[in-house]
Amino acid sequence: MIDFSIAKDEYASDLMELVRLFEGATDEHLSLAVDYGKDGEAFKVGVSSDKFSEFRKNFYFPYGEYGELMRKRVEKRYLKIAIYRTLCFLTGVSLPYGCLTGIRPTKLYTEVQGDREFYGKSAHDVFVNDYDVSEDKVELIERIVDVQRPLRNKAAKAYDVFVFIPFCPTKCAYCSFVSLPLDKRRKLVEPYVDCLIRELEQIKSIVAKKKLKIRAVYVGGGTPTSIGCEQLGRVLEHCRFGAKEFTVEAGRPDTIDKEMIDMLLSHGVTRISVNPQTFNAKTLEIIGRKHGVGDIINAYALAKGKMDVNMDLIAMLPNESFEDFRYSLDTAVALSPENITVHTLYMKKGSALKLDGYDNTDCETASKMVDYAYKKLTAAGYAPYYMYRQKYTSGNLENVGYAKQGKECLYNIDIMEEDTSIIACGANGISKKLDRKRNLITRCANYKEPLEYVKSIDLMLQRQAEFWN
Ligand SMILES: C[S@@+](CC[C@H](N)C(=O)[O-])C[C@H]1O[C@@H](n2cnc3c(N)ncnc32)[C@H](O)[C@@H]1O
Ligand code: SF4
Repeated sequence: MIDFSIAKDEYASDLMELVRLFEGATDEHLSLAVDYGKDGEAFKVGVSSDKFSEFRKNFYFPYGEYGELMRKRVEKRYLKIAIYRTLCFLTGVSLPYGCLTGIRPTKLYTEVQGDREFYGKSAHDVFVNDYDVSEDKVELIERIVDVQRPLRNKAAKAYDVFVFIPFCPTKCAYCSFVSLPLDKRRKLVEPYVDCLIRELEQIKSIVAKKKLKIRAVYVGGGTPTSIGCEQLGRVLEHCRFGAKEFTVEAGRPDTIDKEMIDMLLSHGVTRISVNPQTFNAKTLEIIGRKHGVGDIINAYALAKGKMDVNMDLIAMLPNESFEDFRYSLDTAVALSPENITVHTLYMKKGSALKLDGYDNTDCETASKMVDYAYKKLTAAGYAPYYMYRQKYTSGNLENVGYAKQGKECLYNIDIMEEDTSIIACGANGISKKLDRKRNLITRCANYKEPLEYVKSIDLMLQRQAEFWN
């Protein structure tokens, strides 16, 4: 445990995030005592260990006069650097993203780029030399930032709309998202759809009143297409905001047939996901997808050429070797969808894999898979265009969306870079209001649990109305 006995503990939870990333660290390595504070012109962080009696490292950082908020940011940054370097030294392990623990490395990179005066050096230098991010990952981040630049939302009145549908055919073993298996929760679909429609009607009046332009609509899940054409069609009828980009994250190939594709097209949907996760039949069985490889190929054939298609893959699925992953990636590339998103397995509470004690800590194989994906996809004409990181990911790696040129999903960029206001509806929907002048984001969250959401719809509507008005 890190002991903050001398410090006031205000940074402890953030710093523990960093410590957790060191899979190889034992209790001995983690028995650190940290003291910090101003030392003349510098900020000094001292790290010692009661398990290694002679061990003490002192770090000195440049320090100035800051307001309260900035002081905290600066101190936390220095503490992270000091603890990261100490743990690298003690464990002999270094991490691809160095001391960074956040979800959005590209957003951070852009912020550092925009504040050269404060950092005193280029963003590249800060990431490599201060945060100890590997050159490979900095290259990935920089490539994404470059691809995103012309696509970033500059119009204050351009918003996105997000609609969440929490139902799925079955629960996949790795998944910790809010998802209700339809065989047990079918009865909730109709009242849920009714609530969504009430929210969407209210959103329509907010959009009209504030004279907003909707840039992208994203219907996500769960598996929106699992509820069937009739009920999903009723929702989509209320999603006509005139947006150029309209995604329905269909996802599970076993929920996509010709009738579904025709219905989506009739409502103006421009992009769907047909998610293999893997092209290995054995793994599909292990992860409980309850569909075969043939279903993926059939669903894709139905959508191809009619709308843009994204395919999600996951590296480090149970029992998969590097060759298994390479086979899945090569198959996806051969099919040539507009987008391919490569996730690295993360093990969050609530997934069956986590409960079963599956171990995803083989960092070397994880890196090999993710590096292969980058090389293969970029050689095949895809460019990485958005990324995010999750806690408890194999090898501390990342999730990256790749797109053919001009086929990038704006919603994915907007949500990761947090430069667009998002009106969200449905259970688990989190609306975000961006104050561009003050660079502030405020949030309004609906209840996460779908039944609670349905029961409390009047309150959800009232909160949504107050938030946007
Ligand atoms: C919100 S899920 C919905 C997708 C859709 N229901 C499906 O399963 O095809 C979006 C994506 O997150 C990824 N994902 C979910 N859980 C994951 C995990 N534990 N590790 C890595 N990726 C994960 C999967 O690739 C999944 O397609
Ligand atoms: S991965 Fe997709 S289909 Fe599987 S449980 Fe999660 S949201 Fe549902």
